[in-house]
Amino acid sequence: MVNKMRKVKKKKLSIRKLSYLIIPLVIITCLIIFRKNILYFFQSKKTGYPYETIEVFHEYDVYDDIKKHDYSDTLNKIIITEYYNPKYLDNYLDIKYIDKKSFLKDIDILLNLGYTTEDINNIYDSLKDESIELLLENNYLKDISNILKLSYFHEENLKRYLTYSKGKDLNYIDLITYVNIGLDHKYYSDVIKLTNLDDIGIIVNKYHALPSDYVPGDLEAISDKYNKGYNNKMRHVAKVAFEEMCEAALKDDIKIYSGSAYRSYSYQLNLYNNYVNQQGFDKAETFSARAGYSEHQTGLATDVMKANWDFLSEGDKEYTWLVANSYKYGFILRYPKDKENITGYMYEEWHFRYVGEKVATYLHDNDLTYDEYIARN
Ligand code: DAL
Ligand code: ZN
Repeated sequence: MVNKMRKVKKKKLSIRKLSYLIIPLVIITCLIIFRKNILYFFQSKKTGYPYETIEVFHEYDVYDDIKKHDYSDTLNKIIITEYYNPKYLDNYLDIKYIDKKSFLKDIDILLNLGYTTEDINNIYDSLKDESIELLLENNYLKDISNILKLSYFHEENLKRYLTYSKGKDLNYIDLITYVNIGLDHKYYSDVIKLTNLDDIGIIVNKYHALPSDYVPGDLEAISDKYNKGYNNKMRHVAKVAFEEMCEAALKDDIKIYSGSAYRSYSYQLNLYNNYVNQQGFDKAETFSARAGYSEHQTGLATDVMKANWDFLSEGDKEYTWLVANSYKYGFILRYPKDKENITGYMYEEWHFRYVGEKVATYLHDNDLTYDEYIARN
């Protein structure tokens, strides 16, 4: 009996001994078999990506790159699609995901066009869906992030900016400014009929027309002392400023005169037609406005003459004085040299326009034409 008990005890002991061996063995075997799953499980917890995405990261051998970055919804979604391109991995990490059906396909197109991560985030932050469509269908628009920051970027002009940028090496500020001016359209096409007729800041150029019957209500004759022209009237504020300017010039021994100030629609019509008859259409277009498109009809512009009745030209001391001082009286040289492509007119050393001191000073200090100023404001 005692012997039997001893036997049972011995057997129990050997089973216990065996289990000490087997259990760790099972655990170790399981760990070996499931080590990947366990690893991925912890990596998923650590990075925030689902387990299945972690598997793909390992398949593409990119986990080590990804683990250093914050979780990216964009990457999580794109990596399991046909749009995933390994060369854009860093981009995906920083592109903010937008919950939109075609988003992954679209960012693939935008990246291939050349847009950066920052560009893409800015595009989705600022533009409407139809504008993004335009970007997807068109050429790469250089500096788009800077463009979107411009206060004078007009989203409704996006197609025009894209078209005008093609094949041109313009900086982005000029690109946006020129299109806003209208330079992507032929002169005298897409004309805006002006309504702010009595506004001192009115812009009149080859895209902005005055009504044929517009006559400023406050035209006044310029003092004979400073006038040599037949068209000697200007609007009150411009006339006063012009006379002050002439007086100041006189103190510096500079004699300047108004040679041709306000011109009615019909006067301009005759003038333009005469130029066309005498010099031909193409030539006339470079220096004469068509009727309704002349600043002279606003009563805010005058062509400046010297004592000998000649209009100013570049070498004249009168010209030099005016270029240096006219802004103090609110006048600008309206058609400067080397800006023909912007103003649409040849260099006119004699044509000065009243815009008020503040704007004139700004244009003087920034070397801008009035067309550019308006296009940016
Ligand atoms: N010469 C200027 C452009 C005019 O005709 O108004
Ligand atoms: Zn003029």
